Amino acid sequence: MAKKRILSGMRPTGPLHLGNLHGALANWKKMQEDYECFFFIADWHALTSDYDMTAPIQGYATDIFIDWLSVGLSPDKCTLFVQSHIKEHAELSLLLSMITPLPWLERNPTYKEQIAELKDKDLSTFGFLGYPVLQAADIIMYKANGVPVGIDQAPHVELTREIARRFNYLYGNIFPIPETILTETSKILGIDRRKMSKSYNNAIFLSDSLEEIRNKVSQMITDPQRARRTDPGNPEVCNVFSFHHLYSGQQTVQHVDPECRKAQIGCVECKEMMAENLIRALEPLHEKRAYYKAHPDTVRAIIEDGDERARTVARKTMEEVREAIKI
Ligand code: TRP
Ligand code: SF4
Repeated sequence: MAKKRILSGMRPTGPLHLGNLHGALANWKKMQEDYECFFFIADWHALTSDYDMTAPIQGYATDIFIDWLSVGLSPDKCTLFVQSHIKEHAELSLLLSMITPLPWLERNPTYKEQIAELKDKDLSTFGFLGYPVLQAADIIMYKANGVPVGIDQAPHVELTREIARRFNYLYGNIFPIPETILTETSKILGIDRRKMSKSYNNAIFLSDSLEEIRNKVSQMITDPQRARRTDPGNPEVCNVFSFHHLYSGQQTVQHVDPECRKAQIGCVECKEMMAENLIRALEPLHEKRAYYKAHPDTVRAIIEDGDERARTVARKTMEEVREAIKI
């Protein structure tokens, strides 16, 4: 039986962090072994909110691509490409916009949330309202069977299913109806104990230098009840301890747990130990990152190759679409 086809994308609005690594990227990495995967940089989608600040988008796009390669997404196993390089997405998005009823877009919960959240930004644009239409085009262009996304993106995949059904009903059965594959949100918190997010300024980035990592770890909030070195701590509520679980191995975890509860280890020491383990765990990733940074031509060639593979599929889909619509 043919492998199921999976597709997902990321908006290049900033560098990737450990939350992304343990969330989406870990999931994609697993999926590339079992599915035919398409992963892409949604740079046109970045424009929907950052249309007045476009200069950094291409830099972020390349950097995220390098992060993908460095964590082990393999161009031999999946098709990695850039949305704006495949102009067919714009054509399909336009055609889908003709059949998408406005109320579907207006009642999209992400739309309402974002408008409320980003108050200082004028998001009453056509492009922002149409965000899910472009996303639907991204997805059905490749006839994806499944879309791995976080819970925040679930309404967009739901809308994609409705748009695809409507297309099939109006013009003939071309598109499979894609399933939402929910990615578990990573349990890793930011250095201030809130959800790790670049907009909270609490993230450890994959591109951070060793000094930055050590510095950020030293600022991490531990057990808030443990005010003094002599106070016993509770590792269960400590974010540093969660990091130990991920990066330090069983032995350290079993050593830190009782020592912390008896105030035999201080947070400074505990953090320093964790930072070194984190740095060691990220070392292979950092090495690959440095390699790709130093070889931009290699990166460009990998992107072009992915684009070419994506474009072949997109062209074929668009031929079918035009024939179905008779235009
Ligand atoms: N909207 C997604 C996000 O912000 C990015 C995205 C664009 C996407 N097109 C997609 C995700 C298609 C999955 C499938 O995270
Ligand atoms: Fe957290 Fe370690 Fe401090 Fe305990 S000793 S509170 S586990 S940082």
